[in-house]
Amino acid sequence: MDILIKPINKTINASSSTTLLEALMENDIPISYSCLSGRCGTCRCKILDGAVAGPSAAEGKLARHGQYVLACQSRLESDCVIEIPEPDEIVTHPTKTLKAKIVAYETLSPDVRRLLLKPSKTFEYAPGQFSNLTFWREDGTRSYSMAGVTQDELLEFHIRIVPNGRVTGRLDDTVKIGESIKLNGPLGASYLRRKTTSPMLCVATGTGLAPILSIVRGALESGMKNDIHLIFGARTEKDLYGTDVLKQLEDKYANFQYMITLDHFPVGTNYFRGLVTDAITEHFIDLLNWRIYLAGAPSMVEAASLACTKRGANIEQIYADAFYPSG
Ligand code: FES
Repeated sequence: MDILIKPINKTINASSSTTLLEALMENDIPISYSCLSGRCGTCRCKILDGAVAGPSAAEGKLARHGQYVLACQSRLESDCVIEIPEPDEIVTHPTKTLKAKIVAYETLSPDVRRLLLKPSKTFEYAPGQFSNLTFWREDGTRSYSMAGVTQDELLEFHIRIVPNGRVTGRLDDTVKIGESIKLNGPLGASYLRRKTTSPMLCVATGTGLAPILSIVRGALESGMKNDIHLIFGARTEKDLYGTDVLKQLEDKYANFQYMITLDHFPVGTNYFRGLVTDAITEHFIDLLNWRIYLAGAPSMVEAASLACTKRGANIEQIYADAFYPSG
């Protein structure tokens, strides 16, 4: 069967016994991948014509015209035309499982902790990706976003403590500095796009600040000159954390600025009152060609995507991984 690949306009041949990703890789077609098991969404492709069997990137089964599939889990059922995303922005950091030593565990806010890990081997990832951490064997695995690498080459994670959560609810009492845990990653397709000079809008709520910080630091520290705007939303002042880091970045880099939005705050303080979507609508009139990165609760991601597209953003240039509170 033939696959015509857009936008590079190349045709390759594939059989139904190989996955779409295998066929693309065998023919040196640029495609991002990570977990190879249908979990991270990195290998997402769009079906423009033809039929592909496998889980759709949205809800599964058979994907046809206009739908996205996970290439690592999909097989052709007919000749197809597919579109690969951003062929010049390919990131391939195959997922690894390794041990990582706990170097620090600190309180950032009443319900957010900062975890620093020293991986046992070199661990490469793109800013914005996340990993699974296993604190103990029985039901002790959750996905957490990486906020970046410290100067000592330690991986930084932000963890929201969910009261009575089966994992996070026990961490304050069980985490021991010096112990090793299992690290599985990197995962996720919401990573920094480097080959663009377009402005960037990064929006975070809660521990969604971790991947957004990773993206912002990755861009600034590698010398990207794009205008970068960050909106960080919380309910009250006591839910905020990481604002000292944001301030340091703003002082150091002329192309970075941030805004904090709160639902409630004391009179006389200098925050934007409202939701992050209110701030988008009020402060960003034209988002055409902007790269948008969103991280936080699924409801926020959905509402912010809508607010950005109403301001002209292209849905294909809005990046967000599903980000659910880990209990
Ligand atoms: Fe296909 Fe992760 S590489 S879903």
